[in-house]
Amino acid sequence: MDQHTMHTRTCGELRAEEIGEEVTLTGWVWHRRDHGGLIFVDLRDRDGVTQVSFDPEFCSQEVFHTAETIRSEWPIKVTGTVRERPEGQDNEKLATGHVEVLAHAIEVLNTSKTPAFQIEDHVDTAEDVRLRYRYLDLRRPKMQANLKLRSDFTFAIREALHHHEFMEVETPALFKSTPEGARDFLVPSRTQPGHFYALPQSPQLLKQLLMVGGVERYCQVAKCFRDEDLRADRQPEFTQVDVEMSFVTEDDVMGELEEVLSEAFAQVGVQMPTPLRRLPYWDAMDTYGSDKPDTRFGMELHDVTGIFSQSKFKLFANAAATPGMHVKAINAKTAGTWPRARIDRLADVAATFGAKGLAYIAFRPDGSVTSPIVKFFSDEEMAALKAEMGVEPGDLVMFAVEKRLVADEILGGMRNHMANELELPREGHDFLWVVDFPLFHWDDELKRLDSEHQPFTQPLEADIEKLDSTDRDTLLSIGSHTYDFVMDGYEAGGGGMRIHNAKLQEKVLELLGFTPERAKAQFGFLMEALEFGAPPMGGFALGLDRVCMLLTGSDSIREVMAFPKTSSGSDLMSAAPSEVSMAQLKEVSLRLL
Ligand code: AMO
Repeated sequence: MDQHTMHTRTCGELRAEEIGEEVTLTGWVWHRRDHGGLIFVDLRDRDGVTQVSFDPEFCSQEVFHTAETIRSEWPIKVTGTVRERPEGQDNEKLATGHVEVLAHAIEVLNTSKTPAFQIEDHVDTAEDVRLRYRYLDLRRPKMQANLKLRSDFTFAIREALHHHEFMEVETPALFKSTPEGARDFLVPSRTQPGHFYALPQSPQLLKQLLMVGGVERYCQVAKCFRDEDLRADRQPEFTQVDVEMSFVTEDDVMGELEEVLSEAFAQVGVQMPTPLRRLPYWDAMDTYGSDKPDTRFGMELHDVTGIFSQSKFKLFANAAATPGMHVKAINAKTAGTWPRARIDRLADVAATFGAKGLAYIAFRPDGSVTSPIVKFFSDEEMAALKAEMGVEPGDLVMFAVEKRLVADEILGGMRNHMANELELPREGHDFLWVVDFPLFHWDDELKRLDSEHQPFTQPLEADIEKLDSTDRDTLLSIGSHTYDFVMDGYEAGGGGMRIHNAKLQEKVLELLGFTPERAKAQFGFLMEALEFGAPPMGGFALGLDRVCMLLTGSDSIREVMAFPKTSSGSDLMSAAPSEVSMAQLKEVSLRLL
């Protein structure tokens, strides 16, 4: 670190080589211990911790007295000599643990109230208290390390993009609604009463316009805003590393991204082998029950419909006789040893993934089985099932009887649940592409087609004719040029090729329920631009918060955001959102209901 006027060294850098050196350190008092006439202080800054000792034989009475009065979290400045710690007092856990600073001067830079919680990594503090005093929470070494990792990764990916000749272009935050499937955050205009900006859900439309504008390779570390229900991996404002390229094919974009991502990951010590595996969407769904599978463990889904076509077990036999219905199964190894009550409770878990019940067979280690359904199975069916599922004593086979996608999603949910319950080892990171998503899915609430990715996605050329069909299943079978970047079972990024033909874009918007008037009002500027020689283009956005969550082994993106919001969208520190004055409302021509 640079020479500083206030300190000469950081609290993390002193080693045996510095023994004998006179140093000045600044930081917060972490722990202070009085040991029969000696005072030890662990002094902490963002770089680490150094033990400072005050010995009346080596410092003035005044200095010693000050050392007696300092308390936790007071910022202080100390000057002293680096020395080897006395025999037997080394602290192997600290990088500076072989040395200490024998102080002869101290300056109290400020005092501190007693914090609401201890500044330690392993203290059980309720998250709302941490968020209320986030500035104290950020002093914890783990949070410092998280922020540092995020800074390093962001720098590395920017550098990699720069190196690959991407141009960083800033796009406005005050813009128009962008359809990424969430609700918009609106900002009233003062100068145009009754008119609103929308904070962008992503720079999607703007980056497409940049391609029309000739930028060719765009990137941006972009803030995105989505008013949606929050979860551990979702925040109302989050950051994307956003990318778009023109005059490229899908393979060009994915190839380029693989290079950029592997360069950036390498900078934070993570090897991402390329080329990445490409798993087609339907394979991902049918094999893992998820479009963002964690492939570090097996427990794959098997379609066992055929085994039960003649079964006396009506639920399975009827499914086998009904087109579109499937009997699918997973085998959770060792869960077959669980007590029956625990297995029965799994039905409640399955219900959260859309199951109406959960048929299962527990193969007990003593050779017996526990199962509400097995009495209906013939010996042949049982033998075929065991062979298909690779059954051994101690296994728990669970079934879903549903339409393909519903069965996949139920068992995909159970697969993840069981992996957590069984604490299956998931070492290292898992990277892959899931590709070839369908263009549309059916939205039961809206009672219409909705985009699987977003409305500007390029359909597969071979399927374009199907856009004229009126048959729902034909429309649902249309493929698209899309790819999601999946890391450790999370959707860490997503993208695709874009429609660059105005007529095709109109057609897709129409299928998504946009009247020509609404399409014009919302996306007229895009449609117009497409008519001015828009080039073939495609891109991608990486969820920076999610990637940093996974890189730091955190269980929520809040752990890698300096000032995140709670699940109800509040900032507990500043109490935002908050009321505003009548005068402010009047200025933007708003009245509260
Ligand atoms: P998409 O909506 O898939 O694509 O977003 C890209 C990535 O952003 C992350 N992400 C989020 N992270 C935290 N909180 C959220 N609320 C949140 N929502 C999304 C995810 C996701 O994979 N414009 C397209 C990209 C493109 O096609 O180029 C888009 O925004 O990691």
